[in-house]
Amino acid sequence: MKFLVVGGGAREHAIAATLERAGADVVVASANANPGLDRIARAFVRVDPTDGPRVVEFARKEHVAVAVIGPEAPLAAGVADALRAAEIPTVGPSRDGARIESSKLFCRELLARHGIAASPRVATPASVEEVDRAVAELGVPFVVKPDGLTAGKGVWVQGSDFTDPKEGAVYAKSLLLQGGRVLLEEKLDGEEFSQMAFVTDSGIYPMPAVQDFKRALEGNRGGNTGGMGSYSQRDHLLPFLNSGDRDAAIEILRRTVAALRADGISYRGVLYGGFMLTARGPLLVEYNARFGDPEGINALTLYEEGNFAEFLHGVATGRVDPNLVRFRLRSTVVKYIVPPGYGDHPKAGGLLEVDTGAIEAEGVHVYYGSVEAAGPGTVRLGSSRGVALVGEASAIYEAGTRVEAALAHLRGDYYVRHDIGTKEDLARRVEHLRQLRAPGAKPSPLPLSVAAAAAPPSSAGTAEQLLG
Ligand code: AMP
Ligand code: GLY
Repeated sequence: MKFLVVGGGAREHAIAATLERAGADVVVASANANPGLDRIARAFVRVDPTDGPRVVEFARKEHVAVAVIGPEAPLAAGVADALRAAEIPTVGPSRDGARIESSKLFCRELLARHGIAASPRVATPASVEEVDRAVAELGVPFVVKPDGLTAGKGVWVQGSDFTDPKEGAVYAKSLLLQGGRVLLEEKLDGEEFSQMAFVTDSGIYPMPAVQDFKRALEGNRGGNTGGMGSYSQRDHLLPFLNSGDRDAAIEILRRTVAALRADGISYRGVLYGGFMLTARGPLLVEYNARFGDPEGINALTLYEEGNFAEFLHGVATGRVDPNLVRFRLRSTVVKYIVPPGYGDHPKAGGLLEVDTGAIEAEGVHVYYGSVEAAGPGTVRLGSSRGVALVGEASAIYEAGTRVEAALAHLRGDYYVRHDIGTKEDLARRVEHLRQLRAPGAKPSPLPLSVAAAAAPPSSAGTAEQLLG
């Protein structure tokens, strides 16, 4: 079966590699030349992936059976609609469905309209004059979000991106003055996790839960990024996330898909819930209409070898055999190699020597992102996330140690977060949730509608039990 993969990052490299391992042929439509994808691709076209007509033209020429869209921009631009109009089954929602990610306002309104009590308190000032009153009503701390796609970088969180509420208000006003719409949200306290699911007409099929590391620097300092790395745990839960919490998140996904359907939007693709596990259970921070990057790489690494092509074909055509959906019981850690200064001032153009053979001999996968080939065993880093290294093992920290060992086979000027998946980091997160959930802990002021979405009481174990 021949698949078209749209997009040119490490997530798309992982999608293509998983399809290749399942015996599929892969062709690629991407703007950039990705050395990993170019090795796998039977054919490729260099094209703006949001250019629907040109993507369709290539898919037709190649007689692909299924198209898989990686990034959000082509989904928001309606490339899935264009492919379906050409009768090419596609993994990825229509432009309407992708609004769940491309408009945070659409997302919050959808949840509210269908009584899905998973949102924090939200204010949507329509003009500069309304901002100060909205901030006063919301209380502090709060978060400022532009309505549209921001690649994870336009959101300002009080306490991280600004301190004085006035600064947040000035930022919100500047967004409104630029002609955008803006959301102010109550800042949720807790631990974030990503719960993705394959979604098609026959149901939703959850992937293992993953935790992303969004901040650029170790210790979760620095600006928000697309994600510096991520981990998943062998039982598909997380050290701080029990099965009741995960089930509550999956139920929110299920109800959201039903809400979309009730509004006439059929959704075939991946739905990604970014959740905050709070003292009252999981609340939704945002939806994405695609695999997370890097979280998708954790999930794809765990997909049971063999039938991924058949499975994705089922997602694209509306009916999957639930027996095909199996994720192995292993822990994974992804770490991104990025250029120095990534986040605010990336220094692009540096050379990176990658001894892929030696890295793979350590049992670590290599997926290429924003890099270009620069001679044998050498790539040139771009300004975005360069190379994803993926380790797997029984325990999370062991998977992290494998990735750290693989760094010995990289040479060049780069940055990587060494703290992803360490025992210390995991223990801190477990302790954070334990404190939030301790009897007598000061409850954060949440509206009744949100409290109604509370998950069952925690039955999480101690850090030692969970970290095994
Ligand atoms: P988003 O683009 O909506 O995912 O926001 C980027 C990041 O900002 C999230 O991953 C969170 O770390 C943080 N964030 C967004 N909304 C909230 C919120 N209501 N409370 C706390 N943190 C948030
Ligand atoms: N890692 C977060 C995202 O894919 O948006």
